[in-house]
Amino acid sequence: MRQRSITARLTMSFAIASTAVLLLVGVLVGKLVEGHFEQQDLAALDGKLELVRHALAKVDDPAALEAVPDRISDALVGHHDLLVAVLGPDRRMLYASAGARFPATLLGDIAPGRGAVRVGPLEWSEGGQAFIGIAGAAPTGIAGGKAAVVAIAANIEHRREFMTVFLRSLWLALATGIALTVLLGWIAARRGLAPVREMVRVTQGISASRLDERLALETVPVELRELAVAFNQMLARLADSFRRLSDFSSDLAHELRTPVSNLMTETQVALSRIRSADEYREVLYSNLEEYERLARMTSDMLFLAKADNGLITTGHEPVDLRAEVQDLFGFYEALCEEQGIVLRVEGDAVVRADRAMLRRAIGNLLSNAIRYTPAGASIAVSIRPRGPEATELSIENPGETIDPQHLPRLFDRFYRAEASRRPAGEGAGLGLAIAKSIVEAHGGTITVASHDDSTRFTVVLPHISE
Ligand SMILES: Nc1ncnc2c1ncn2[C@@H]1O[C@H](COP(=O)(O)OP(=O)(O)O)[C@@H](O)[C@H]1O
Ligand SMILES: [Mg+2]
Repeated sequence: MRQRSITARLTMSFAIASTAVLLLVGVLVGKLVEGHFEQQDLAALDGKLELVRHALAKVDDPAALEAVPDRISDALVGHHDLLVAVLGPDRRMLYASAGARFPATLLGDIAPGRGAVRVGPLEWSEGGQAFIGIAGAAPTGIAGGKAAVVAIAANIEHRREFMTVFLRSLWLALATGIALTVLLGWIAARRGLAPVREMVRVTQGISASRLDERLALETVPVELRELAVAFNQMLARLADSFRRLSDFSSDLAHELRTPVSNLMTETQVALSRIRSADEYREVLYSNLEEYERLARMTSDMLFLAKADNGLITTGHEPVDLRAEVQDLFGFYEALCEEQGIVLRVEGDAVVRADRAMLRRAIGNLLSNAIRYTPAGASIAVSIRPRGPEATELSIENPGETIDPQHLPRLFDRFYRAEASRRPAGEGAGLGLAIAKSIVEAHGGTITVASHDDSTRFTVVLPHISE
């Protein structure tokens, strides 16, 4: 279906509704006015009929009938628009005002004996004039005589002319009314939709560099408020993602610059004069370390990029969490012994997960914990069920509290809470981002809480059915 504009649709509805209403009003007003005039004419005619009947009723002698025309003329003095005809009891025309020509039906139906006392009103035209007339039987006072017949008509040409003009003006007014309503409807619809155009204007102005632009909610009508709120929230999310993305690329460049410039300096120094084979070997060894760091970082980045695009697949083998943690303890044993750090684990659980990946995530958390634990303190890993549907693994270590302002961004790539305190050559700030990607690829969550000189990372893994 073709999409019609809202303005067009609203205007159309206005047009249809106003046309229907005004047509109805027009027809009604026309009928009422016409009916009112008819009523008035009829009342006048009835009055005159009574007048003539009265005059005839007083006639009690056939000879007196001759005087009837004069009496009627007297009675109708000043009513030039009235036509009167009187047929005597013998059907002879007793009286007829000038130009009185009544339709045969009007007079014929009153023929004595037919029973009708009054007929009409009847409307007719003659000689370009319109008339309305009635007829009635008029008993005379002559004993045993038949009734006379009286017909009375009024010229209603003026009324017909008036009605023609009146109806023409009425329809003209109504048509103007309809046109005006349509126009006003169109204007109203356009005005009503102005906020939408404003939203479009703001939206068009939004670009990557202007993601801080927002729709002004106070100017948005209630019907559109939810849309505007959702739109603003989307912008906020976009702005946030965009900021992270641009932070990320500048961080990436920054992270790469240090090892590359280290390599360059070392190489330049080595090349500045002739060296012995041992010296060259030493430089190459030290460079190899940098290369390894770079290689680690690139493969971490690659892993994260894949995770971003949902490209990492996870296996579903049963993993004994306690056994994995103890295995990792073995890996860090030497380091911990050196610093007098004690590692403890409590609880156990088997989850279905990708063993290698889970190990990498827990390993990242554990290596962080070891790095930030003061000498002689102990790190506690605890494994326990979280509700009926999930398992929780938490790693808690004593150490300086992480400033709350860092917590929301701790899992971001390259984010380090205390860059200045960080020993040179340590991790690049990707460890937690990777742990988070892995946990999320398993449908789980990872959170951090840090207070009272103690930091705890908690991983929740939902149970996966086979
Ligand atoms: N157990 C912890 N105690 C205190 N701070 C921590 C701990 N784990 C992580 N952090 C903070 O989170 C930051 C990010 O950690 P991570 O992503 O592993 O990067 P990296 O270890 O390379 O610094 C660290 O630089 C540190 O500031
Ligand atoms: Mg780390």
